Amino acid sequence: MWFTGLSGAGKSTLANAVAAAIHAATARPLEVLDGDDIRTFLSAGLTFTRADRDTNVRRIAYVARLLAKHGTLVFVAAIAPYAETRAEIRAASVAAGHRFVEIFVDASLETVTARDVKGLYKRALAGEIPHFTGVSDPYEAPTAPELAVPSDREALDASTARVVALLRELALVAEQ
Ligand code: ADX
Repeated sequence: MWFTGLSGAGKSTLANAVAAAIHAATARPLEVLDGDDIRTFLSAGLTFTRADRDTNVRRIAYVARLLAKHGTLVFVAAIAPYAETRAEIRAASVAAGHRFVEIFVDASLETVTARDVKGLYKRALAGEIPHFTGVSDPYEAPTAPELAVPSDREALDASTARVVALLRELALVAEQ
């Protein structure tokens, strides 16, 4: 399950909330692959050019497939801004026999810029960070995600419940 969206949209928060919510309801092991951790431990040295983002996203997808092969339910929180690359990793997942579920964590640029939790938008808008998603680099919003979550208009609990319901609907987590 891939949570895509702008930096600061709430991808990690939602992924972790979903993992916590279903922890008790499934015997399957769970893992959260967080973009920030991946860039520290697996993709250190990669930049935010299109080529490096694609490399980053492909690496994450590869690790997710390895985990899924052993029955782990994998929640990825990473921007993955390019539709073509998301389509590619979806196809690779499906070819490997896994479900690929895309969750669009949809918060407006105005909201994430106003929140600016990491202070990066301020710097990006000042021209200090090249290739900043949503400011000086594109974010290609999903056109057909399995679920879109308006994270700037919906409470975390409600979004979490909708993602958990989807997981049950897809039989990725047992019905209770
Ligand atoms: S991705 O595009 O390669 O999928 P990823 O999710 O790993 O991005 O990393 C995004 C995080 O890196 C952001 O939340 C932000 O903290 C940080 N970051 C640093 N520089 C940039 C940039 N140019 N564009 C977007 N995020 C950046």
